Amino acid sequence: MSSSTEGEEVDSDNMLYIFLGYGVALMGGLTAVLYYFFVYKNKKVVEKKRGEDTEIDETLATNSVGLEDVTYIASKLRPDSDQLDILLAVCSTPESINWSTKALANREKIVQARLEDDKKKAEDEKSAPKKASGELFNLDDDGWANEDEDDEDLDDEEKEKAKKAKETLEEKQKFGEELAKASGKVTIYLEGVDEGVVGQEWVEKALKKVGAWPLDDLRFLKDMTFEYKGKQVSAMDHPGLRRNLCFVAGRLNSLALNSHPELLDAASKQLIDPTYFKNAADFRQRCAMLLEASLRAAVGLRSYPLTKTIVEAVSIFKIGCTSCTPKDVEWFNAIMMKQYRVLPRLLIENTSIENAKHPEMATSDVLLISLDLTRLHAENFTRQKVAMLQKQGIPPQMALQQYREGWWYFVCAERLDGETPASAVEIKKEGILNQVEDADLKKFEKTKFEDRLLTAWPMIVANVAQKSGKVKIQFKAPSVPGKYKFNVAVKSQDFLGADQVFSVEADIVDSALLGDSRKAATAEIEGDDKADKDEGKKDN
Ligand SMILES: *[C@@H]1O[C@H](CO)[C@@H](O)[C@H](O)[C@H]1NC(C)=O
Ligand SMILES: *[C@@H]1O[C@H](CO)[C@@H](O)[C@H](O)[C@H]1NC(C)=O
Ligand SMILES: *[C@@H]1O[C@H](CO)[C@@H](O)[C@H](O)[C@H]1NC(C)=O
Repeated sequence: MSSSTEGEEVDSDNMLYIFLGYGVALMGGLTAVLYYFFVYKNKKVVEKKRGEDTEIDETLATNSVGLEDVTYIASKLRPDSDQLDILLAVCSTPESINWSTKALANREKIVQARLEDDKKKAEDEKSAPKKASGELFNLDDDGWANEDEDDEDLDDEEKEKAKKAKETLEEKQKFGEELAKASGKVTIYLEGVDEGVVGQEWVEKALKKVGAWPLDDLRFLKDMTFEYKGKQVSAMDHPGLRRNLCFVAGRLNSLALNSHPELLDAASKQLIDPTYFKNAADFRQRCAMLLEASLRAAVGLRSYPLTKTIVEAVSIFKIGCTSCTPKDVEWFNAIMMKQYRVLPRLLIENTSIENAKHPEMATSDVLLISLDLTRLHAENFTRQKVAMLQKQGIPPQMALQQYREGWWYFVCAERLDGETPASAVEIKKEGILNQVEDADLKKFEKTKFEDRLLTAWPMIVANVAQKSGKVKIQFKAPSVPGKYKFNVAVKSQDFLGADQVFSVEADIVDSALLGDSRKAATAEIEGDDKADKDEGKKDN
């Protein structure tokens, strides 16, 4: 199928390969990619070709996001939204609020069960010997350094400690929660019930001390109301939404939080409220899913500025910093140098543009931008990661299979010999945008031609040692003939300061002026495209 032309040159002897996220041909506009994103969400193996295994990024293999949520997000975002706008939008979708409201109701049940249990125990104690409470919820580890295992790039020793603590925590908490629900007999430590336990209240207080709480800049949420128990309340007065906002603020300020002495101290005494910290981990997963849906929506809206900002929101949310200003980049670079002795960078060479099937490039043809890629950090990343894992007694081969490094290629065009109307890159109200209000689409129709996205191409590097490869980005040529400069923005969703832009130029001729043989060939390509989609349906 034509979607396998995104040729990675594979050094299969060494099992070194770069695979391109979804292996999708973005022909006939972006419908194909939107379709694929939807259809393949729950699939691990997308396609095999030439004997190599291509698998989907596990973190992206998540449950689907409802159209209602996507529609809400589209209504809140604009081409010039910033990273915080995006995070505020994803944490306030109807389902996000519903989810956290349910989680809070569940917590209330646990609290009630616990209080009843305490009462019963107090009565039993008069007749029976004393039993230590909380023994089933026991953190064996001595440190809770970092709430996120994704933060592997931050601090190796702390990370391993935190990971172990988190695993223990999650395991015990699941077990404890179930038992608690079933019998009301197990004690888990709860903030507000047990002395000195840290949970949401503590996090809010800690955030307040560093000036990050309450969120003083609520953007569009400031003027909105939300239903809670039959009443319309403000964002901060809705307990579920407030909790999500606290998760976001906590995430963006994780540096200040995760190494907080009080948190470390509480963790060492096993005084961590699992109803908050377990939910915080779930929330991050939900956010990852919603951010991906937002990205798909922004791609459908053809907005380069918005897609670019969403990738930035993904990276700061992953890393746990508040923005990606030069100061943040400087901070991040220092961490990278300390940890890996190198900055994560791609060297892009030998860029070119061509039509894979014909010598000339004509309007609406499928074009390919090709490049040679060198991951300058491959060697040092591999060496440092292997050393780190060995130090921790973890078999590197196994652990490194989890490695994922995501990059995006965004292609826009600039007309050099005249003007191409922005409407030539059409925004279609279909797929994920099906239910988006016309007024919300209009916000994006103002986007000028140069900012309209011709394609968004994901590349996931799954082998940390992969040094080089070839990348081919497919997209549809503009529908108006002329001389064009195609600007390709390369963005990392994992690293700060690693982005770059390159351009290639091409003369696009009018396909109407080409002969009949050429027309027949074009029809054939379109046929292939359709076959791909059909195959996608079948595979699912
Ligand atoms: C969550 O959504 C479901 C279905 O839409 C609804 O029935 C339920 O009441 C909602 N729960 C909360 C806590 O808002
Ligand atoms: C990799 O690390 C070594 C030191 O361990 C350093 O000398 C070298 O410059 C680094 N490589 C790159 C590409 O920065
Ligand atoms: C770029 O192209 C030249 C000439 O074909 C080739 O020698 C070189 O290896 C290529 N660069 C990369 C990084 O593959």
